[in-house]
Amino acid sequence: MKRGMSITSSFGGCLISSIVCLVGCDVEGTKAPTATTQQPASNTTAKSLDDSAPQQLPTKEKSGVTRETWGKADGQEVFLYTLTNKHGLEAKITNWGATVTELRVPDKDGKPDDIVLGFKTLDGYLKGDGKSSNPAYFGGIIGRYCNRIGNASFKLEGKEHSLAANNGKNHLHGGKKGWDKLVWKSEPAKAADGAAVRFTLTSPDGDEGYPGKVDAAVTYVLTDDNALRIEYEATTDKPTPLSLTNHSYFNLSGESSGSILDHEVELKSDRYAAFGDGGVPTGELKSVEGSPLDFRKATKVGQRIDQLKGEPGGYDHNYVLRDKKSDKPQPAASVYDPKSGRTLDIDTTEVGVQFYTGNYLDGSLASKSGTKYQQHAALCLEPQFFPDSPNKPDFPSPILKPGDTYRQVTVYRFGARKHVR
Ligand code: BGC
Repeated sequence: MKRGMSITSSFGGCLISSIVCLVGCDVEGTKAPTATTQQPASNTTAKSLDDSAPQQLPTKEKSGVTRETWGKADGQEVFLYTLTNKHGLEAKITNWGATVTELRVPDKDGKPDDIVLGFKTLDGYLKGDGKSSNPAYFGGIIGRYCNRIGNASFKLEGKEHSLAANNGKNHLHGGKKGWDKLVWKSEPAKAADGAAVRFTLTSPDGDEGYPGKVDAAVTYVLTDDNALRIEYEATTDKPTPLSLTNHSYFNLSGESSGSILDHEVELKSDRYAAFGDGGVPTGELKSVEGSPLDFRKATKVGQRIDQLKGEPGGYDHNYVLRDKKSDKPQPAASVYDPKSGRTLDIDTTEVGVQFYTGNYLDGSLASKSGTKYQQHAALCLEPQFFPDSPNKPDFPSPILKPGDTYRQVTVYRFGARKHVR
């Protein structure tokens, strides 16, 4: 099948029509030009949290990218891309916020489920809670600066910059209309190891109060070894703080299956950024030793969650991974869901990771299957610079300078284990 030809394709048992096959689709026996190298089906490389062997995910379909029209936002066309890999994994990603809207991953018995929170339609994302579009930031790319900047201001090269105060007196996730709420340019991309789509955005000088024009590109690759890899790049024409992340909410049992308190989490971190009022770091990086924040060994999320103080209850902490960014993604976090057997391993180049347990979900947002997302319905692991770094000279610097390129690579690797304790 040629790029751009209209097809009817089936995946995961549901028929979708009027979809355009862009790269690598294999329909009705017709070989498509493919962006993927066909590699032997490998065992899942998910690292184990115990000694049980990872299961091989079933071989199902060829990898490829399709695109459908999803609606309009800000007068621009919004698309929904479907990336599939040859083991039956499927990721749906829209150019509205470069947002992951669905991620289908087989469980220990080979049954796929959608394991990320989100809305069913573009309208759901745009309407949000009636006050703000996608208020929980489900699946979006957060920019220019994810997490908090204290007092919604920072000083750079002697000049004070004021940002939108959209989280009490602080600035959160890029402001009132951050990058997760913008329509990005998009195109299918080439990757040696899977199906890919690339999103680009130009953020003008003064956007949400930030200095400099920033050109950003985010490429998602659904690899044939069962990972979703996100590659970020950005350049600027004036020094500016930049810290990007993806805000996917994972529930490895399925997006509307209840709470994640039984998920086991392991974090490759022995310190976290202590914070004061409003979640803004004090500047101190504290040891996790002897506290409910210690996830150096795989521990159930719910095991010590009641010992955490503060409202509205749950983990919302920035863990220190390393002192400076690494060139290659390094292990950061592992999650295991005993119910479904699914595993998630996250490797990243970033210095920190925000572990957030959906504390602010309060039943006001409807899930894709019609239930309501309640507190702790999912967990987020968001690689990033430490919060408020623009105001913390001792933290690794998040300032991007003209002539330099911001790069981040984060890999979310999925697997499933038969053995359930
Ligand atoms: C933050 C939370 C915030 C949430 C919004 C997370 O990244 O750490 O404090 O409420 O995003 O969805």
